Amino acid sequence: MRGITLGVCVVVAILALQVVEVVRAQTKPKPPPPQPSNFSTDVEVTWGADRVQILDGGQQLQLSLDCYSGEVTIFHYFASSGFKSKKEYLFANVDMQIKLVPGDSAGTVAAYYLSSQTPYHDELDFEFLGNESGQPYTLQTNVFVNGVGGREQRMYLWFDPTADFHTYQIFWTPRLAVFFVDGTPIRVFNKTSGQPYLDQQAMGVYSSIWNGGDWATKGGSVNINWANAPFNASYRNFQVKPAPIPPPIDYDKLSSVKSNFITYNYCSDRAQYPSVPVDCL
Ligand SMILES: *[C@@H]1O[C@H](CO)[C@@H](O)[C@H](O)[C@H]1NC(C)=O
Ligand SMILES: *[C@@H]1O[C@H](CO)[C@@H](O)[C@H](O)[C@H]1NC(C)=O
Ligand SMILES: *[C@@H]1O[C@H](CO)[C@@H](O)[C@H](O)[C@H]1NC(C)=O
Ligand SMILES: *[C@@H]1O[C@H](CO)[C@@H](O)[C@H](O)[C@H]1NC(C)=O
Repeated sequence: MRGITLGVCVVVAILALQVVEVVRAQTKPKPPPPQPSNFSTDVEVTWGADRVQILDGGQQLQLSLDCYSGEVTIFHYFASSGFKSKKEYLFANVDMQIKLVPGDSAGTVAAYYLSSQTPYHDELDFEFLGNESGQPYTLQTNVFVNGVGGREQRMYLWFDPTADFHTYQIFWTPRLAVFFVDGTPIRVFNKTSGQPYLDQQAMGVYSSIWNGGDWATKGGSVNINWANAPFNASYRNFQVKPAPIPPPIDYDKLSSVKSNFITYNYCSDRAQYPSVPVDCL
């Protein structure tokens, strides 16, 4: 009889402890959800301050590309604009929502990238190559390691990137870099054993819009029509999470992107690279 009572008491005590644990777990403060960066305080203008507009109390930023006095001059470069994050990171998960130049954007290039800006720089690039009205934008990605690039991949998107904001994400860990568009992986760059990788230099987040008329659209045959200037690209919901855990990668989606949307891949460019580059194997 004593034994049974004691046993019941122990069970009751254990249950009571578990209830306390449950209550504790429920009242333990959750980490706050990540906040988007504030463009008023977290980025700085790299050039073209009069063509950078910060809107909605720092929640949105607009870059413009314009031409002085509406003339075509050799100083087009100075009509561009850009910004960078104040902080730099060694590995990060970076998100940005971008809405690209509507209408006739031929010759314009809007870039969004991570870069170390050092003599032998590391870089992970998204570059959006404009097009004539109604013709598709091209998204070009590239990877620089220790100053060496030449790893272009070009593709069309499965939506009109000028009609609304879409999320462009760069996931950078010590083992791989992944580019995502609206959560779909479009490119994976793995660390290859014995090869240099982007793991030695911190990178900042950069964006800019500039004149790429000599190469961007139809191989440079279509120049910017300055009559349509200013060309505006908008940015919002900029978030950086340092020290990311590796993302799940849906390799089925990645191969579907590869077969349906890729228009150029350095890995299969035998004119440029007679043998397959090691980071493609
Ligand atoms: C962003 O920072 C500016 C300047 O400090 C401030 O006025 C604004 O309220 C902030 N915006 C948000 C969404 O917190
Ligand atoms: C990267 O590595 C993963 C696993 O290590 C492999 O499954 C994947 O095919 C590789 N991707 C590329 C593009 O090399
Ligand atoms: C622009 O549209 C044409 C089709 O009219 C296409 O061939 C080209 O790849 C598109 N993009 C660029 C950046 O030229
Ligand atoms: C681009 O931005 C400028 C400056 O804010 C504005 O005057 C112009 O109307 C915008 N253009 C378009 C096509 O929205």
